[in-house]
Amino acid sequence: MSTQQSIPAGGPIGIFDSGVGGLSIWREVTRALPDESVLYLADQAHVPYGPRSQGEIRDFCLEIAFYLRASGCKAIVVACNTASAVALKAIREEWPDMPIIGLEPAVKPAVALTRTGVVGVMATPATFQGRLYLATVGRHARGVRVINQVCPGLASLVEEGALHGEVADALLGDYLQPMLSAGADVIVLGCTHYPFVIDAIRRLAGPGVAVVDPAPAVARHLGQILRARGLLGGRGPAVHGFQTTGNPGVFDRQVLRLLGINVHSMGLAWTEEGALAAGV
Ligand code: DGL
Repeated sequence: MSTQQSIPAGGPIGIFDSGVGGLSIWREVTRALPDESVLYLADQAHVPYGPRSQGEIRDFCLEIAFYLRASGCKAIVVACNTASAVALKAIREEWPDMPIIGLEPAVKPAVALTRTGVVGVMATPATFQGRLYLATVGRHARGVRVINQVCPGLASLVEEGALHGEVADALLGDYLQPMLSAGADVIVLGCTHYPFVIDAIRRLAGPGVAVVDPAPAVARHLGQILRARGLLGGRGPAVHGFQTTGNPGVFDRQVLRLLGINVHSMGLAWTEEGALAAGV
């Protein structure tokens, strides 16, 4: 599957997620790097990734990375903590010449911020089970207690656009409670879907609790890597493409609701052999 052709500096940055969560990264990347074109891919045929097996998630991610590379992308942002935990290493091994940026829960800045010595991390089960997360906690926790909070149903709620109201508040309340009663004063959003409910999380957690969204740091890191590799600067005005393996009309409405922009996404389909095919 590997290809070793040179990386096209004028190509777009590829960003992918299981669904709309990676749009929280898209928003910061396009803010930080306004001249760069971005191709966003949402694998909504398979969302949520969180409860799926590692093998399944890895297969999806390798194929998506292959597709983005074949589409001329000069770098790939795995804008999903779950996909990064499971497949980042495999993607990097497959394309060692290409900048591949992954997401991991922002334990390091949380540890620097806490005064109570307790931080909470909200993420999917697959993220907590990955070696990447264990290594991050091992490296950065330094005597700080880290509470892992899985949040079943929360990514799906964001997909459905139910960001406000009683259902969202009740679910968030249940997930925040164990971290808050343990004394956490910093909460890390360890899933890219969760920044879309950050206002509700802040309101429910109260003013004494800091909520860490890693998206701005990821966008800065991407910029540094592209600059160092001489890959910054698209040719001509930035062009933003959106593709989904789900329903393009539904996805367009989700993007409008979450980002306030009108897009016309392209549909993609998974073939029976597990490949991505364009033009649906
Ligand atoms: N947005 C993904 C993440 O950052 C997960 C959502 C899902 O379970 O698909 O982990």
